[in-house]
Amino acid sequence: MASRRGSTSVILPSGQTLPSYTRSSEDDDGLPHATKKKMADHLRKYEALFTLTPQRMRIVVEAFKESLELGLAKHGQVVPMIPTYVFGWPTGQETGSYLAVDLGGTNLRVCLVTLQGDGKFEITQSKYRLTEEQKQEDGQILFDFCAECLKAFIDSNIESGVIEKDQVLPLGFTFSYPCAQERIDHGVLIRWTKGFGSPNTEGHDVVAMFRKSLAKHSVPAEVVALTCDTTGTLIASHYVNPKTRIACIFGTGCNAAYMERAGDIPKIQELGIDPNAEIAINCEWGAFDSFEHENLPRTKYDIIIDETSNKPGEQAFEKLISGRYLGEILRLIICELIDEGVLFLGQNTYKVEIAYSFDTAFLSLMESDPTDELLMIIGIFSHFFALETTLAERQFFRALAKLVARRAARLSACGIAAIVSKMNYLEDGCAVGADGSLYNKYPGFAERIHEGLQDIFGEKGKTIVTYHAEDGSGIGSAIVAAMTKARRDAGLYPTL
Ligand code: GLC
Repeated sequence: MASRRGSTSVILPSGQTLPSYTRSSEDDDGLPHATKKKMADHLRKYEALFTLTPQRMRIVVEAFKESLELGLAKHGQVVPMIPTYVFGWPTGQETGSYLAVDLGGTNLRVCLVTLQGDGKFEITQSKYRLTEEQKQEDGQILFDFCAECLKAFIDSNIESGVIEKDQVLPLGFTFSYPCAQERIDHGVLIRWTKGFGSPNTEGHDVVAMFRKSLAKHSVPAEVVALTCDTTGTLIASHYVNPKTRIACIFGTGCNAAYMERAGDIPKIQELGIDPNAEIAINCEWGAFDSFEHENLPRTKYDIIIDETSNKPGEQAFEKLISGRYLGEILRLIICELIDEGVLFLGQNTYKVEIAYSFDTAFLSLMESDPTDELLMIIGIFSHFFALETTLAERQFFRALAKLVARRAARLSACGIAAIVSKMNYLEDGCAVGADGSLYNKYPGFAERIHEGLQDIFGEKGKTIVTYHAEDGSGIGSAIVAAMTKARRDAGLYPTL
């Protein structure tokens, strides 16, 4: 057994307390561990696999740009480039009270947003964690659950006098999965992403399904607009920072939205929209390089993740970047080294062999461990996986986390660079509103994106700056609902 000298504890993002211990010596647990040199040799192998050179990044950017163009030109392309029917930027003067329902990758959120004009707002909200079972339940049952949660939220706000009884509030529905839209309050689910698999939903209009659930539970709310978290983020960020041109989500999933000239979207020419009008495009860029896998540097771990996922072949870009997968990439490497007899000889490794048991939050904690002995990493392995580690192993795990997360950030930079280059934003520079757990919580993620942008564009890359965006799925969705109401009241494209 390891001799222990003292103990400390750390608080995880989940609120859980994690005990960790200091040791008197590194290799005193009587277990066979790999030598420092051996770990360094292995690290070199993974460095070669996960490092993206600037030259390789530029090649990815060019292919990405072509996919974006193709998505605008024709319906049904790999990167679907969905016109959202959000016309132009908000004025900042939008006002009124709106409900927002956000069916995200991890949580369901219901909000009441009061827009006060001048870029100001108030929000109250409730959050519900979605179980893995709910994500696979029949679609209508999932929407029923959303309606029930909204009903409970409205009732409690009526009780506290915030919402008037008999008031039917307009609602913005943030449904962050690719939907083909014919108008703003319509969206046929193209495919589930982020591990969802609810039957009887793909190929159906999710607004019609949600309206059915709202009617069934007599919820006093009228769905005005369907938005994606990225579109909401684009609009909400611009509401408070008008320099914003692009919005990105780096969370459970990964995606971007930006504003396009209607005249530059060949596939919707027949709608008769003024070519100079601007429309927000939900890129759904997580799908880049899906099916063909010609452009992205996939390792064998990425291929295992893809092939064992509920959607093999799909969301190729997202699977290399988003929080849903990064922990799993690292876990697969650990398992490979266990199989090769390099790590944890003589220890029971069954816990770490469970798929998706290695949370991406662990990578984040590992990288931010401030102690020389890497106490946080001791804690993660002993507490969650019942495994003893040496300092050399912990340094190796931390270096691996860095490789995996840095590749994710650099690939994210490639996506941003493709939009920047397509839209010629480099000269004047632009602000990119970004949100999501990876962007907000992973240490150094934003800096690595910025470093990547400079590797792609040189000095000029410094003009593209990401910043922590405004809450798109709540505030953004409400602003979109307000903009839609104003547009339709003014008779502008009333059927879109
Ligand atoms: C997935 C979804 C997309 C969403 C993103 C971030 O890529 O398909 O709609 O914006 O995750 O949540």
